[in-house]
Amino acid sequence: MNIAVLASGNGSNLQAIISAVRAKKIKAVLKVVFSDKADAYALTRAKKAGVPVVAHMSAKDFSSREAFDAAVVALLKKEKIDLVVLAGYMRILSSVFIKAYRDRILNIHPALLPAFKGAHAISDAFGYGAKITGVTIHLVDEEVDHGPIVAQASVEIKPKDTLAILTARIHKIEHALYPRTIDAFLRGKFKVVGRVIKRRG
Ligand code: GRF
Repeated sequence: MNIAVLASGNGSNLQAIISAVRAKKIKAVLKVVFSDKADAYALTRAKKAGVPVVAHMSAKDFSSREAFDAAVVALLKKEKIDLVVLAGYMRILSSVFIKAYRDRILNIHPALLPAFKGAHAISDAFGYGAKITGVTIHLVDEEVDHGPIVAQASVEIKPKDTLAILTARIHKIEHALYPRTIDAFLRGKFKVVGRVIKRRG
């Protein structure tokens, strides 16, 4: 199995995936790391780790979202990617992308969906005064932060937390949950029934 990670920023989740692949905790080849941002630190991490294909394309070089996504999909197909893993990829996927990899795109979101959708989920939950937030891993469909939920973990927001402390606690959970879920997903442990995903065995 070949996986690709798409990231726009720091890439700490990518780093957790790189470590898990090395330790054979994810039984797959991390073949491609792609970013829409030339300066994404994720690209540096991927190069350091020796990922075979480390690629960047900028959306401003394309006439539409669909044209950009078609180019990304062409790259993924060329490299025979089986599973697309979004890890801080800050673009909404067009239907061109979703159709090409339906039920084979995972995303990680730093809140318990459907609460706190969007790009500022950690600070939104913190500012709202939630007492429990968490991490969601879901399949990507045409709606933002909406697809069937594969895995979730809750994270307590403690009275003395700052946003920085909470952010670090959430990332720690992400770095454990994402590799484990990716591996289970690749090994066919999940069955998609409508929008409900059931774990087999
Ligand atoms: C993570 O919190 C993830 O849940 C969200 O974007 C962040 C990416 O962080 N989608 P990193 O680039 O993996 O460090």
